[in-house]
Amino acid sequence: MMEEMRYLTFALGKGRLASQTLELLEKIGITCEEMKDKKSRKLVFVNEERKLRFFLAKGLDVPTYVEYGAADIGVAGKDTILEENRRVYEVMDLGFGKCRMCVCGPQSSMELLKHHERIRVASKYPNIAKDYFYNKKHQTVDIIRLNGSVELGPIVGLSDVIVDIVETGSTLKENGLAVLEEICPLSARMIVNQVSMQMQTERIKKLIYEIREHLQQPG
Ligand code: PRP
Repeated sequence: MMEEMRYLTFALGKGRLASQTLELLEKIGITCEEMKDKKSRKLVFVNEERKLRFFLAKGLDVPTYVEYGAADIGVAGKDTILEENRRVYEVMDLGFGKCRMCVCGPQSSMELLKHHERIRVASKYPNIAKDYFYNKKHQTVDIIRLNGSVELGPIVGLSDVIVDIVETGSTLKENGLAVLEEICPLSARMIVNQVSMQMQTERIKKLIYEIREHLQQPG
């Protein structure tokens, strides 16, 4: 049976992940010219040819839009997916946005970690931090939720360590901090709404196939 040709909606996290996603889509022939205008404050864009719609959201909200079906597809960092733990299908590793989730702090905090002391952990990712310390390390800690510039935590004495994303490591280095433990590798993932996956199977599968083909090409 022919699937009804409605718009397939993409939720993209504002910023670097969105530009890298658009670059990737362009390589498989899906363009969205109006989205490239950096000065634009517009939030929703369409590609009439393929009946696609794109919107920009706060990164941490992408899995929420996808779970509720406001977007059929989303691109989010694995960090966001773990932190939000939404009911969505994670269908593909897009290979960009590679970084690591780590426990970081001054070298002196290493001892506190080793001896399972009740330490303070500052993070933008309280659920990831909690899961790591409670379920993996079986260490009781106090988690303090911050909204950014988390490196300040140990510097100003708010916390002993932080749980945060490390990409190049330069933020840590410039602030006299180091990676103390590695929690997991991260990268951009494509997520799909569970109902959309059933109702728009062919279109979504075709898209996944096209992207996968492209990603598997050498170079
Ligand atoms: C992220 C992260 C680190 C930094 C890591 O912060 O929280 O601070 O990037 O990158 P690096 O290892 O290459 O230095 P982001 O820039 O997203 O801002 P935030 O501090 O507001 O979260």
